[in-house]
Amino acid sequence: ATVEVENEPCLNYLKGSEERQKVEEALKEMRSKTEEIPCVIGGEEIFTGDVHYQVCPHNHQHKLAKFHYASADHIRLAIDRALAIRAGWEKRPMAERADIFLEAARLLSEKYRYKMLAATMLGQGKNIQQAEIDAAAELIDFWRWNAKHSLDLQKQQPISTEGVTNSIIYRGLEGFVAAVSPFNFTAIGGNLSGAPALMGNVVLWKPSDTAMLSSWIAYNIMREAGVPEGVINFVPADGPTFGDAITSSPHLAGINFTGSVQTFQHLWRQVGQNLGLYKTFPRLVGECGGKNYHFVHSSADLESVANGTIRSAFEYGGQKCSACSRMYVPSSMWPKLKDELLTRVKEVKMGDADDFTTFISAVIDDKSFGRIKNWLEHAKSSSNLKVIAGGNCDDSRGYFVEPTIIETSDPKEKIMQEEIFGPVLTVYPYPDEKYREVLEMVNETSPFGLTGAVFAKDVNVVKEAHEILKMSAGNFYINDKSTGSVVMQQPFGGARLSGTNDKAGGPHYVLKFCSPQAIKESH
Ligand code: ALA
Repeated sequence: ATVEVENEPCLNYLKGSEERQKVEEALKEMRSKTEEIPCVIGGEEIFTGDVHYQVCPHNHQHKLAKFHYASADHIRLAIDRALAIRAGWEKRPMAERADIFLEAARLLSEKYRYKMLAATMLGQGKNIQQAEIDAAAELIDFWRWNAKHSLDLQKQQPISTEGVTNSIIYRGLEGFVAAVSPFNFTAIGGNLSGAPALMGNVVLWKPSDTAMLSSWIAYNIMREAGVPEGVINFVPADGPTFGDAITSSPHLAGINFTGSVQTFQHLWRQVGQNLGLYKTFPRLVGECGGKNYHFVHSSADLESVANGTIRSAFEYGGQKCSACSRMYVPSSMWPKLKDELLTRVKEVKMGDADDFTTFISAVIDDKSFGRIKNWLEHAKSSSNLKVIAGGNCDDSRGYFVEPTIIETSDPKEKIMQEEIFGPVLTVYPYPDEKYREVLEMVNETSPFGLTGAVFAKDVNVVKEAHEILKMSAGNFYINDKSTGSVVMQQPFGGARLSGTNDKAGGPHYVLKFCSPQAIKESH
């Protein structure tokens, strides 16, 4: 069996359009209520009473969702119930499981798109375009392309010889897979939980507290599409409670994680400590942070640098793991580029996520706000950092941080090395002739290796830059911004401390959730 799929086109939500009206209706309904969300364990919806809230980032008085944390006992119950149905699910033909996820993609595209957009706008602070790219197009693409790749994988077979038939079957992992997803992409939660399930695994999904409503909608789409109850268990929980419960189960077969490097390292350590306990080596798949760069050469096109940088640094408030947060510019170009950036950043409209003219809305929560505020204070009080745009923040109604540009004379300042995860860009103007040394420094400055971009028209410089920066980014861009990877066009993932680089949205991703068996039959 095979299936041909295409990328889902992004829709426009122009004023007066039918699509716009439908999103407006979904927003209106969501603004007027607080959705109550249970844990779902083996199909049973459990309102545990350990209640938490998801608030709207641009208006934290609005409680968008009320959800119930699972306790360690609930998590263990979920593991038991999942394991009890694992064999039956794993036995289903791949084509049947693929059909379920194609149906989930269809349901999201045709039936739940507007609701999903509204939940991502109000809950995660995305404007309409950013919500469409993520919660509609990318999630649909993940489900569709994974389904296609799961079928294509079955065709990857060994050779047979005279009197011997060889084959490979792509079994699920023996045990359960834990999926732990972040707030910043609705699509990631659907992919982290969906891909292992597609491949015949049973899953415990811990969604992010600050992406609860959109995760809940994604979950229910998968259920409606035909994922049997118990195959994916919806388990909101306190992070350490969840981590301890899954890593202390002998049946842990994999962790599919996106989040901070500290959390991933912590889970990895726990797995290491418990190795004697497990029936199998757990597969660890993780995407962590980044300290992504734009490197500009003097031959670059200034317009595209300015455009790309404003978008990469400030779209979604710099909260994409791929966002540019450090930039290297030749001194000769800096005065003009600075003017361009300052003009553009002034035009950036900050506002509520559900205002259709907003470019940048509030950051996700009080914790993020506090962390970014500390960085702004650090920038204002350091002699080798100069705030040239923005620099203010205000959390009286929502968690608003101005898009901020900082200039530095010290390319090794910690603001050039550490992840901020907010709308803060730092620029180092370098002596033009030193570009090779600067390239070496770009490569060595940060422990991450997620995304990076080189802007240069000189093809030799591009070649040289790529050689030096080869290991510095899992996703490398030439004359384009560091964000905006598209499923199956730029499979996504970084190395170094950015993760295990298993390339979500690529053809090999589904293989991570299989334990292939090679069968030799002699005749
Ligand atoms: N895949 C997302 C991007 O490339 C994170 O921006």
